[in-house]
Amino acid sequence: MSFPNYIALIPAAGVGARMGSEMPKQYALLAGKPMLQHVMETFAGASQIDHVYVVVSAADTYINDLPLQPRTTILRCGGASRQASVTNGLSAIQNDWDADDWVLVHDAARPGLTTELIDKLIAFVKDDPVGGLLAVPVVDTIKRSNGHGRSEATVSRELLWAAQTPQMFRHGRLLQALRAATDPDSITDEASAMEAQGDHPKLVEGSPRNFKVTLPEDRLLAELHLKGSL
Ligand code: C5P
Repeated sequence: MSFPNYIALIPAAGVGARMGSEMPKQYALLAGKPMLQHVMETFAGASQIDHVYVVVSAADTYINDLPLQPRTTILRCGGASRQASVTNGLSAIQNDWDADDWVLVHDAARPGLTTELIDKLIAFVKDDPVGGLLAVPVVDTIKRSNGHGRSEATVSRELLWAAQTPQMFRHGRLLQALRAATDPDSITDEASAMEAQGDHPKLVEGSPRNFKVTLPEDRLLAELHLKGSL
């Protein structure tokens, strides 16, 4: 029996409009290094990961300035949406891996990921028939707006989790699910593509430090985590 490989795929072809800067947010400096470099170094240091792929846009002029990490390949096939970037990346490596190999898709915009969280996800999901994702239970009281700035209802948070990445699925099944997605707007992560196929991905508790850096004020919190001050 052969053991599956573990591949990381980092979509990093976004423009990060909400950060309000000229530079795509994955290259914003955090604790002295571009956000994407933190993520690439974490995966390069994760002993269970066999290879790392970073998906950037064909026009990316920043990636060449980042130090190349071991077992890492840059794919210049980013698409117009996150889903397109992931689908293009998975298609580009299709012939190099088995359909049953695991892929861990991780946002470049989550620099707080640690090798411990990667190991935890792999440990909880490696024997699962479907796959799974890091996520955190929702702690706030959740309101549904009426669309005009007023609260219409309180939504029970009992079953709610906020999805993070990495999201870990079998290469073949994930690519099939992403290609089959008929409503691209409803597919905002890999798990939603799998759910649309009727699968139920496993929820593995992640960490608040693995949050997505989105707004300019998020950088300060990310830096505190990266410097080990929190
Ligand atoms: O914009 P957002 O933070 O949701 O993006 C999540 C991740 O998807 C980021 O790492 C971003 O670079 C990536 N992305 C991509 N291609 C796009 C849009 C986003 O690879 N067209």
